[in-house]
Amino acid sequence: MKFNKVFTLLVASGAALLISCGAGKDNTGYEYAPNMYHSVAYEPLKQVKDKESGLWVNSTDEEIGEYYSSNPNNEFEMNMLLPVEGTVKRGDFLPYRIPKDSLALAAATLTNPLPNTKEVLADGKALYGRFCSHCHGSNGTEPGLVGERYAGVPSYTSAAIKNVTEGHIFHVITLGKGRMAAHDSQLSQEERWKIVRYVQTLQKQ
Ligand code: HEC
Repeated sequence: MKFNKVFTLLVASGAALLISCGAGKDNTGYEYAPNMYHSVAYEPLKQVKDKESGLWVNSTDEEIGEYYSSNPNNEFEMNMLLPVEGTVKRGDFLPYRIPKDSLALAAATLTNPLPNTKEVLADGKALYGRFCSHCHGSNGTEPGLVGERYAGVPSYTSAAIKNVTEGHIFHVITLGKGRMAAHDSQLSQEERWKIVRYVQTLQKQ
């Protein structure tokens, strides 16, 4: 009798073992608690608003489908929020990280990512006219109206400045130097590199 019971148990569990392994490769088998394996993903770029979508694979008490991926707490039920109004796009440039006191490092390592074309030079000249010429003068040799009252504006053709590198000029425009203030809040990196191209032509006049 006892032997029979053990035998039946063995056969039963053997059969259960065999049945639980499906033959097909696509068969994931029976899932005991599917909502433990399939966490609800908050996906930023995909949005399923239908609460019943995928209900057949889910067994949560709320009866919300597996594919529902919206966030009812956010505007438009989106997971990724729109940037706040007035957000300024950074463009393709990463934030500038070289510290102000590392001018030599910037001078030696930075290179202008913009080509030396007529268009870049024209933009650089226009920006120079707006942001620099009142101090440095339209040619960068004689101080402009503000520069006349702002002692110590150097000429770009002076021995000290005429050979400084593009990285040096970029760093000075970005973070300032001595009595010249930083321009990183007024000019994007692209605009600063355009001005650098133009200042280089003034160094060599
Ligand atoms: C408010 C006046 C002012 C404005 C605006 C200004 N600069 Fe200057 N700039 C100065 C002064 C003053 C110096 C000298 C800084 C020092 O060494 O004390 C200087 C120095 C420089 C130098 C030489 C840095 C060195 O290594 O000695 C460069 C290059 C330069 N400026 C470029 C520019 C460019 C390009 C702009 C426009 C984006 C600009 N500056 C805007 C006043 C100004």
